[in-house]
Formats: sequence, C-alpha cells, structure tokens
Amino acid sequence: MTGPQPRTSIQGIAPYIAGKASAPGVKHPIKLSANENVLGASPAAIAAYREAAAELHLYPDPNATALREALAAKHDLDPARIILGTGSDELFSMACIAYLEPGDTVVQPAHGFAAWAIAARAVGGIVKNASERGHTADVSAILDEVDARTRIVFIANPANPTGTWLPFSEIERLHAALPEHVLLVLDEAYIEFARDQLDTRAGLALAARAANVLTTRTFSKLHGLAALRIGWGYANAQIIEPLNRFRLPFNTPRPAQAGALAALGDEAFIEQSLALAESARGALSDMLRRYGLTPLLTATNFVTARAPTTLHAGELEARLAAEGVLVRHLKNYGMPDFLRFTIGTDAQMAALDRALGLATSRR
Ligand SMILES: Cc1ncc(COP(=O)(O)O)c(C=O)c1O
Repeated sequence: MTGPQPRTSIQGIAPYIAGKASAPGVKHPIKLSANENVLGASPAAIAAYREAAAELHLYPDPNATALREALAAKHDLDPARIILGTGSDELFSMACIAYLEPGDTVVQPAHGFAAWAIAARAVGGIVKNASERGHTADVSAILDEVDARTRIVFIANPANPTGTWLPFSEIERLHAALPEHVLLVLDEAYIEFARDQLDTRAGLALAARAANVLTTRTFSKLHGLAALRIGWGYANAQIIEPLNRFRLPFNTPRPAQAGALAALGDEAFIEQSLALAESARGALSDMLRRYGLTPLLTATNFVTARAPTTLHAGELEARLAAEGVLVRHLKNYGMPDFLRFTIGTDAQMAALDRALGLATSRR
C-alpha cells in the first residue's frame, strides 16, 4: 500500500448525509428535508450579520464573551461554563476528542443523531446502539448497553430523526444510574419546540448541578441560523476546561456571534417560530394520515411518519421531489419505511398536500 493511510477508525465511518437541497428539473423546490426554520432567520440576526460585514477583516472574539454573557443572562447560567461550537455538531466532536480513548464505547438510542457516531468513531470510539420502544429512546435499554469501557452516553430530547421525547424524569433516571465517570451528552437541539411537553429549563439545570452532564443547544433551528454554524454547550467547569484547551481559538465566526446575539433577543421571531410549529404539527400529522402514512408523535418542528404499506418510502420521497417538495427518507437512520417532514408555512403545507395527492395516486 502506498501513500498516507487514514486510521482504521476513520475508514469505517459512513459520511453524514444531509437533507436533499435540490431535485432534478425543479427550479425552486420546497425544502422540508433538514428541519431548518421555514420562516427564515430572525430579522434582527440578519441585520446584525449585515453590520458585521463591515468587520470581516477582524478575527472574532475567541471567547465569544458578549454571546456567552447574553446566554448566561437569558438562561440564568454561569458564563464561564458555556462553550460555543461551530454548530452543536462541533461540541459532540469536542466531547469525543476529550473523553474517549480508542476502544472506549459510546451508547446512544438506536436512532441517534448521525453526527454523534461520526464524532465517536473518528477518535476510535465504538458505538453501541440501544433498542428503542415505539421509536422513543428507552433508558433501561441504554443502561443495559453501558459497559466497563463506556465513557459517553448521547441522548437527544426531543429526538431527531423520530421527533419523540422522554419525560425529564427519564433523563434524570438515566443520569442517576450512570457512573460519574461517564459523560451524559444531552442534545437539546429541538428543546424549545417542546415547551408544551417538557420543562425546557430542566436539561440546563441538570448540567448546572451534575458533574458529568453536557447539555447542548443550537441556533440552527429555532433562530433560523443554520448557515452561521453556531451552537453551545453547558456543563460543569471541569468538563468544559479540557474542551477549551484544544478548541480552535476562532471556531465561531464574528458574524455568527453577532447574528446569534441579536437572535437571542428577538422574542417576536422566536414566538412566531414556536407558534408555527405548535399550531401546524397536528394538521401535518392529519394530512399525512389522509394519504396513508402513520405519523409518530412529535415535540419538534418536524413530523416523522411511516410510509403507506403500498408505496416504498424511497419511492414516495422521489415522487414528492419530482413534484417540487423535498423531504427526508430515513433509510440511513435504520428506518427505511419512514420519511421525515419539516413543518412548513401554510403555503408550503398546501404544496405538500398537493404533491402527496399526486404522489400517492400514481401507480
Ligand atoms: C438532534 C440534533 N442535534 C444536533 C444537530 C446539529 O445542530 P447544529 O446545526 O447546531 O450543528 C441537529 C441538526 O439537525 C440535530 O437534529
């Protein structure tokens, strides 16, 4: 063999597959495939981003001080224990770099978010999938998979790609049963959308009091800043300190920090985004049922549903794309019969309704 060879752990990684952004022959598809904010970005964030364009020659604040302080003030946290990442994705990676030795194991629910396993495998971690119950994480099954070499447990509440959630008492039960040397990463990318189902402060409060919990959040969903790649985590100072040793100094760009800071204060946009998801969840689930799909319960800005028995999920995804609507077939999540639909605006939902009608009536 010639030339540089990547570590064997890297060779075994299947790259992340993003939601489709285009369809052949469709000029302006409706993108309901990546759980972005269908209302766009917070207008305040866009204005701040534009203003930051005048300072593109300057490095960002390596400590994102203003943003960490604003997050701390908003959520009643200690700013010193907040860490920013290039999306919350980077925080999963940082956690794995810091806390996994090659051969250590990571446990996640069977339909865990794909970026976790990539991060773990990249540093030689072994990923153990715990079975779920009705497409919902199962704490007992997760605990059964924890072994002597487990160093990290990942869980999202609510979860992607299923949209389902656990009562916080189950997260507490999981935490209480884990040895203290196991880091519990609680991924709250969608937590804001679950305010009717969950106490949205509980995950941060657990990270505040526990020695081994990293709770992560993102600006990509509620605030509509997916393009800026900015997320954050909260944990005990002893968890955060090693991460800051190797975190690249300028990991969050200056315009991203500025946009995120403005988004945090844009209560009108936040409320509008939450109201859309909350009011349209039921209607989208009903629509999917009308076309023979079986939706899972959701506490997020998307609905995941089993395809009709008469039509393969991959074929339905392709037919919807041909009608100009992009959704996500979940085959790479081990759910080959399922599709995931981001909740859209009224106009987008009407277009989906029409596309589903055409796609499911064709033979
Ligand atoms: C469960 C979950 N966690 C994390 C992320 C990543 O968010 P970010 O854009 O902050 O990297 C996503 C994005 O889809 C997600 O679904």
